Amino acid sequence: MNVLVIGSGGREHALTWKLRESQLTEDVYCAPGNPGIAQEAECLDVDISRPEEILAAAQRVHAELTVIGPEAPLVAGVVDEFAKAGLKIIGPSKAAAQLEGSKIFAKEFMQRHGIPTAGFTVVESFESARQALGGFDFPLVIKADGLAAGKGVVIAKRRDEAEKTLDDFMRRKVLGSAGERLVIEECLRGEEASFIVLTDGRAVLPFAPTQDHKAVFDNDQGPNTGGMGAYSDDSILNAQQREMILRCIVAPTLAGAETDGLAYRGFLYFGLMMTEEGPKVLEYNVRMGDPEAQPIVMRLRSDFGELLRALVEGRLGAFEAHWSPSPAVCVVMASRGYPGKPELGKAITGTEAAEALGGVKVFHAGTRFENLQLLTTGGRVLGVTAIGEDLEAAMERAYQATGKIQFEGMHFRHDIGAKGLRRRGRARKRESRGGPTVNPGPGGA
Ligand code: AMP
Ligand code: GLY
Repeated sequence: MNVLVIGSGGREHALTWKLRESQLTEDVYCAPGNPGIAQEAECLDVDISRPEEILAAAQRVHAELTVIGPEAPLVAGVVDEFAKAGLKIIGPSKAAAQLEGSKIFAKEFMQRHGIPTAGFTVVESFESARQALGGFDFPLVIKADGLAAGKGVVIAKRRDEAEKTLDDFMRRKVLGSAGERLVIEECLRGEEASFIVLTDGRAVLPFAPTQDHKAVFDNDQGPNTGGMGAYSDDSILNAQQREMILRCIVAPTLAGAETDGLAYRGFLYFGLMMTEEGPKVLEYNVRMGDPEAQPIVMRLRSDFGELLRALVEGRLGAFEAHWSPSPAVCVVMASRGYPGKPELGKAITGTEAAEALGGVKVFHAGTRFENLQLLTTGGRVLGVTAIGEDLEAAMERAYQATGKIQFEGMHFRHDIGAKGLRRRGRARKRESRGGPTVNPGPGGA
């Protein structure tokens, strides 16, 4: 079958690369793609903010299946457009995509269906927002309702910080209409985990667990970004935790969606905080994570094309996914200035030397090709991803690979995976003391 992937980042490079390997795929296309993706697939020049253009591209290349990477086309209704035309696509409808498109919609959905999440209030004016601050302890969390490319969430430690954020979002409108209405919520403590599933609304296929690193600097310091790296290791969520997430979070989410007439289909990403009271949902994303997709596909042993075809043909429940027990680590290499305004147009060298190490794949995010030279063209430039027999080996390999790559002003975190090593260290200690052990369980399913 011919497949079309929509998007141009590291996630889409990972999806395209994995689909290229599939026994079922003939021609693989990506729109708009990037120079890394162009090595796996034919890239198409399409304005992906317009659902009708995505549909026209799928028809042009006879795509039997289209996979949407980013949230914007989903929120814009591309799946509804494909449904009308009778074409197969992976993703939720416009109505269901509101789970990511509107934080207020998501929080009210969770409240209505009893899904564990932080206590919150919705505010629609600056004055009511200021008053609402009194109902929370500090730190508290302020979230813009609409899509804000990772800039819409602020954790305010003090009242003055909170008031400044309210002023920025509601009066100065730094996020445009996305910040007109807000959620103010309780700050949860614990470790974060990304739990991503593929679902047809009933059957659920969980992917191997991952952990993102949102802050720009080591040890989770500095402002939040779209994600500076992620790793996948079975120790992130043990078998018991996974079972609890499936039962207390995933199942009621899908049942709630069905009750509300949303018929959820596609990837569904649960951003979780593992609190002392159990897992709670920080956010839903209606797509794969970026950079989580990169280590996930490195570990997936099953044919990705077959997996997606099983979903659209209603056979997902019978599909058994196989995962490599080896952990994978993705280190994002970013431009100087990111997550603020990045410096662009710098020459990139060493990606081939990095991949020559073996067990390494360099996924492109913000790159372009000009006069036979690879150049930076975004904040997040590359996702250097490695798989290894254990987490330490995967980290070592990923960092060896970043050492081969050069571009002016590049920066990256040096501790992607370090939380996993600490977690495994704690588990070993408990074991040697004879206490209860953490059972990593099988990856994913
Ligand atoms: P979100 O886009 O809602 O996932 O928020 C982005 C990041 O902000 C999350 O990955 C967390 O690190 C942090 N965050 C969001 N909500 C909360 C919360 N209620 N308590 C603590 N941290 C939060
Ligand atoms: N890595 C977080 C996200 O994809 O939203």
